[in-house]
Amino acid sequence: MAIKYTWFGHSAFEVEIDGHKVLFDPFITGNPLAPVAHDALDPELIFLSHAHGDHLGDTVAIATRTGAPVISNVEITRWLGAHGVTHTQGMNSGGSHSFDFLTVKFTDAVHSSSFPDGSYGGNPNGFIVTARQSGQRLYYAGDTSLFSDMELIGDERIDVAFLPIGDHFTMGVADSIRAIRYIRPRFVVPMHYNTMPLIAQDASGWANRVSSETNAVPVVLDPGGSFTIPGV
Ligand code: NI
Ligand code: MN
Repeated sequence: MAIKYTWFGHSAFEVEIDGHKVLFDPFITGNPLAPVAHDALDPELIFLSHAHGDHLGDTVAIATRTGAPVISNVEITRWLGAHGVTHTQGMNSGGSHSFDFLTVKFTDAVHSSSFPDGSYGGNPNGFIVTARQSGQRLYYAGDTSLFSDMELIGDERIDVAFLPIGDHFTMGVADSIRAIRYIRPRFVVPMHYNTMPLIAQDASGWANRVSSETNAVPVVLDPGGSFTIPGV
């Protein structure tokens, strides 16, 4: 078993953790790259990095239909509770929690977080997720700038890192290269790009830079594409 993921465009992913499906930032409706409909998704858990609409997305609809717990910061889980989501796990930066098939640790992210209705969304986060059975580990950065504490995340032996490269609202290509040197993942996956003109990027050019300037293997997929992280 291993970590396998499918990209839905933007920062939305379905990730199989040793065969268990989870979602990250399920922005499907209104996402021009999304190859699926939100009502076709059936996750066991939903991770939500911050409250912005391009991440919150269809979280309420998917969570209320499936009953999948939403894992996010305490301000977001409180807001979700007031909007009909009954199963949540509210956490905060630095904290860990174990579920049946994975352990999550919340990291910082340098960004902002407010709901589409203007309410306060707490501090944005990233996630380090460790698969219980295989031991494979991912880092999902969320929306963030480059920050030097990524070097500490790199001490945690990351198999695959999901990093924004779109620039304008998050770090761009050049800073993503510096981030990869800090995080030292085996594989790196770009996100938060090409959803709209402001965050258009040349992913193959990014991949060439990753290959020549870091020790990580870049994985560039079309929306709907899947990739399985090989064992060591
Ligand atoms: Ni954002
Ligand atoms: Mn965003």
